[in-house]
Amino acid sequence: MTSFWSWYIILIVLGVTFGTAALLYFVHRIDTGDIKKGESMGHSFDGIEELNNPLPKWWHIMFWITIVYSLAYLALYPGLGSYPGLLGWTSTGQWETEMQKADDTYGPIYEKMAATPINELADNQEALKMGQRLFANNCTVCHGSDARGARGYPNLTDQDWLYGSTPARIKQSIMTGRSGFMPALGEALGDKQTVTELAHYVRSLNGYQTDTHAAENGKKTFKVFCTSCHGTDAKGNQFIGAPDLTDGVWLYGGSQKIIENTIAKGRSGSMPAHKELLGEEKVHILAAYIYSFAKKPL
Ligand code: HEC
Ligand code: HEC
Repeated sequence: MTSFWSWYIILIVLGVTFGTAALLYFVHRIDTGDIKKGESMGHSFDGIEELNNPLPKWWHIMFWITIVYSLAYLALYPGLGSYPGLLGWTSTGQWETEMQKADDTYGPIYEKMAATPINELADNQEALKMGQRLFANNCTVCHGSDARGARGYPNLTDQDWLYGSTPARIKQSIMTGRSGFMPALGEALGDKQTVTELAHYVRSLNGYQTDTHAAENGKKTFKVFCTSCHGTDAKGNQFIGAPDLTDGVWLYGGSQKIIENTIAKGRSGSMPAHKELLGEEKVHILAAYIYSFAKKPL
């Protein structure tokens, strides 16, 4: 804050406070001459007559107390422009003290958990509760409060893993993030017919009713364009996050139309890295929470 605005605020705050005090003082001292308490002041308006009724004493005292209180408050705490107050209190300072207290309480617990292997931690009820809370605060916007995901956001409870279900792979997913890239192949494939046939083939792999002739043609194109990422058996590749296309579990959807769209326009799902955001200890606990779904299906 520049010193101009600081003084601007100081003058307004003190002006209002002392102005109110002055008003109170002078109103209290108004000389009503010979007119006794409760008698008419001698003027009326619209049938309403003003009587000599001074403000009650208790009201006056209360008002003086609030004025003294506010001056004491302004002396001790920040309120007058950039004057910091005699106590040196700041909201940042209070926040830091509280964070320090939380660190002192939870630090040793986090440390102990961080030193425990993830597959052991996944059986520790206290760790799972902490993981659930961390998940609620950091992950539900994308993966849903029940971790079952949404279109484009994987279900983390379904035993179908884009990047692998071992403790190390799960932890890596959270630490460094993941980005799955499925290129738009519409142009490379040429006509719409080829895309349609491919989608028939992909659907046939999941036991859906399809046009067998179209699926046969699709299979040939699949060998040329898709196996490098999804594998010759179409079961995917967890190193690049290419999904298994045979398990009936869909990240984007398994209808003919959605699959055609995926092939023609491509997809790119992105899981943000959480290493800097949360720190490794919290990620470790989160990984145990997620791994508990892999270990023991819901
Ligand atoms: C901004 C949205 C977003 C947030 C927030 C987010 N994720 Fe993800 N997450 C994704 C997406 C999208 C993917 C899939 C990436 C892909 O398509 O390749 C993913 C993938 C994952 C995977 C890999 C799943 C698999 O099948 O291999 C794990 C594990 C995971 N997230 C856990 C978490 C945890 C734990 C948090 C909270 C700390 C979190 N995510 C927060 C969007 C998000
Ligand atoms: C460069 C590697 C790569 C190639 C080539 C590739 N894909 Fe993919 N595909 C991926 C990745 C990675 C994803 C996951 C995208 C994401 O996470 O957002 C994906 C997703 C998909 C999906 C969505 C699955 C779901 O669960 O919703 C379908 C369908 C698909 N690919 C079909 C194909 C077909 C058919 C071809 C060949 C024409 C092909 N892909 C070629 C990497 C590839």
